[in-house]
This record gives sequence, C-alpha cells and structure tokens, in this order.
Amino acid sequence: MSLFYSFAMIVLPFLPGFDGYFLHMQNECRFTSGDLKDAEIISRYIFNKVEYLRYNSTANKFIGYTEHGVKNAERANKEGENDRQHTNLGTCKLNAENELQHILVHSVQPSVKVLSVKSGSQRHSTMLVCSAYKFYPEGLKLSWLRDGKEVKTDVTSTEELYNGNWYHQIHSYLELTPKSGETIACKVEHSSFSEPKIFKWDPSISDGDRNKVIIGTSGLVLGLMLSLAGVIYYKKKSTGRILVPTS
Ligand SMILES: *[C@@H]1O[C@H](CO)[C@@H](O)[C@H](O)[C@H]1NC(C)=O
Repeated sequence: MSLFYSFAMIVLPFLPGFDGYFLHMQNECRFTSGDLKDAEIISRYIFNKVEYLRYNSTANKFIGYTEHGVKNAERANKEGENDRQHTNLGTCKLNAENELQHILVHSVQPSVKVLSVKSGSQRHSTMLVCSAYKFYPEGLKLSWLRDGKEVKTDVTSTEELYNGNWYHQIHSYLELTPKSGETIACKVEHSSFSEPKIFKWDPSISDGDRNKVIIGTSGLVLGLMLSLAGVIYYKKKSTGRILVPTS
C-alpha cells in the first residue's frame, strides 16, 4: 500500500503582468503502511514551479534548494520553526487514521454489463463483452459460464484499469458460437459482494438494437401526438365555423 495524502494547499497567485507569478505551498502527509510508522510531513514552498524550500518532519528540518531557500532554511531551523512544524505530525497521523478507517475499508459495487459486440474472428459468430465499471477497491475477477460451467478458452481480458478517481474498470471478452437454449453468463467476484454475482447475457437485445427500438418508439409516439393534435385542431376549426344562413 502506498498512499499519498495532501491535506492542505495554499495557493497565492500574484498577477502583476499577464504571465504573473505563482507561489504555492503544499503540505503532504505521507505514509506507506497502515500502521503509520513512517508517516511524515512534507511541506513544500514553490515559486514559479521551483521548489525552493521544504520542511521534512522525518529529518525535522527545513532544507533549501536555491540560494534564497538555503538562507530561509537556516533561519527557520535556527528559530525553532522546524519544531513548531513537527507538532503537525500528530494531526497528520490522526487524519490518516481517519482516512484508513472510513475510506479505505469501504468498497463500491461495480455496475456490470454483458453485451454482444461484433466478432472479429472467423471461427465464431459472436463476441460477448462483460464490463465491470466503477468499483472500489481493485481486485475484481470476471469469468464466463456456459450453462453454469466455467469457460476458459477464447477468453481475453483487459487489465484492471484505473479511472483516476478511486474507481476501476475491467472488461472480459468471450468469443463463441451460441447454441440455442444455452445460458451464457458472466461471473463477478469482488470484495463488495458477499458471494460471486452472476450476470446473464440476454441474446434477444443487443445494445445497438435497443437504441434502434428506443429511437423508433420515440418517433412513433411523436408522430401519433402530432396527428392527434392535427385532428383536434381540425375539429375545433370546423365546429367553430359559423354557417352562413341561406335565405
Ligand atoms: C525526509 O527525510 C528523510 C530522512 O532524511 C528521508 O529519508 C526522506 O526521503 C525525506 N523525504 C522527502 C520526501 O524528502
């Protein structure tokens, strides 16, 4: 486990010209294991992308990286600013513990889809894809069942892909020539499920067909509504017409 936890960020842009200058300070609470033994605070002082000064709680001192930074580091260490910064390590550990207890123990169930896609192979007519989206944490296993028996051949799978937002996704492909009456399903194993979940493939509707049905139905409904409106309008007009009496 490797965690990077940045708990505060102060951004101070100064914009005298069009390009401007950018000073920012970044506090990081870093740890690599759940026991937080190696937790450390890193405070970075960055001007125009150059980190000129850093406080490191493990070394308990400021370190300068430019001439200006070195001067500031010397002064801060002499004045005991390092010891004052060190007191924040307790808060860092407390926050980290909180995150570990309340966030990392949680899991999020995947949303799963089993669809047919165009097969690229000569041997089989059909390619199915089983996709699991937005699950947390990683460690999800997909497998294919034909009438309840696991299929190992003609199966390819992607790696677990990280979405960049705590969530992951994974896709598994099965090439086959379906027989009538058989059941094809995708088995999903994940820590968010108490037991493996089975998702059946519904061969009657592919995703493309479903869209065509939705578009067709919407068109039909719209058409009916318009013709109904037309009929009502026509009726109103014809009943509202005053007949000129013939004398
Ligand atoms: C902080 O200081 C320790 C001890 O000098 C060092 O091992 C560690 O790599 C430093 N961390 C960073 C991010 O500079």
